[in-house]
Amino acid sequence: MNSAHRKNGPHGNRTPDRELVSLITGASRGIGRTLALTLAGRGGTVVVNYKKNADLAQKTVTEIEEAGGQGFAVRADVETTEGVTELFDEVARRCGRLDHFVSNAAASAFKNIVDVGPHHLDRSYAMNLRPFVLGAQQAVKLMDNGGRIVALSSYGSIRAYPTYAMLGGMKAAIESWVRYMAVEFAPYGINVNGVNGGLIDSDSLEFFYNVEGMPPMRGVLDRIPARRPGTVREMADTIVFLLGEGAGYITGQTLVVDGGLSIVAPPFFADAGEALELPPRPTRDA
Ligand SMILES: NC(=O)c1ccc[n+]([C@@H]2O[C@H](COP(=O)([O-])OP(=O)(O)OC[C@H]3O[C@@H](n4cnc5c(N)ncnc54)[C@H](OP(=O)(O)O)[C@@H]3O)[C@@H](O)[C@H]2O)c1
Repeated sequence: MNSAHRKNGPHGNRTPDRELVSLITGASRGIGRTLALTLAGRGGTVVVNYKKNADLAQKTVTEIEEAGGQGFAVRADVETTEGVTELFDEVARRCGRLDHFVSNAAASAFKNIVDVGPHHLDRSYAMNLRPFVLGAQQAVKLMDNGGRIVALSSYGSIRAYPTYAMLGGMKAAIESWVRYMAVEFAPYGINVNGVNGGLIDSDSLEFFYNVEGMPPMRGVLDRIPARRPGTVREMADTIVFLLGEGAGYITGQTLVVDGGLSIVAPPFFADAGEALELPPRPTRDA
């Protein structure tokens, strides 16, 4: 083995009494918040980044402490380069090091391509791709004992649907950067992976399906083999898996958490009428 290569992951050379430090962007709400609370149950320190909702971020911190972990909130707008720097400066000042960086915060305008202006493109890049890349550069400097980086993607990265081109394009770029980072950071014992969510029950899902011109969500749910939206808990649990010891040999991958949405194609069972309705699950007695 190349002596420059460290054991994979934050647990490789870790002294057992060293508590893990995790940074999650956008942890005041949604998937980030649920992830923060899940990690808190395992002890260690969770850094809760947010932009607007100081009260919700503080609530997350309180619940982290109630769950047995330690935490603090950092207001930093990751859409700006200064915001990313301030965020990591604060982690460095208060924790001195880092084990997990989860690039989770996202925001976008949802528009048809003909209505997308240069400023929309610039903001989409600044908000959705740049913080992952600049954040990962900073994270590597703080991961003194190997580490894990996870970025959030969505099914708009691999499938086209109305008004999602800007965010979908940035998520596709994230999945590509995941592979490049995985190769470059492997010698430091840092694994880099993505989690690609389908239709996940959250505030942002509600917002998206209320965008003008969007079809009703019910029609989409009927086309998901699981016939339901995913939960923020299911997303958080997948991220926790990638941050954990069991994923030590997984790097450069994006796991899809979508109840089968991205693997189906027309003709859909939901459109086919009774002839193609699936029968009840067969059993040994039938
Ligand atoms: N929900 C879904 O259906 C779904 C599906 C697939 C993938 N995903 C991905 O999963 C991730 C989380 O999604 P979510 O639905 O849980 O998000 P969400 O509920 O909309 O929450 C977004 C979080 O990001 C923070 N945030 C927004 N702009 C920020 C900025 N400029 N700087 C720092 N923080 C900022 C928000 O904090 P404040 O409100 O305090 O500013 C909030 O904590 C995203 O990457 C999303 O694309 C979501």
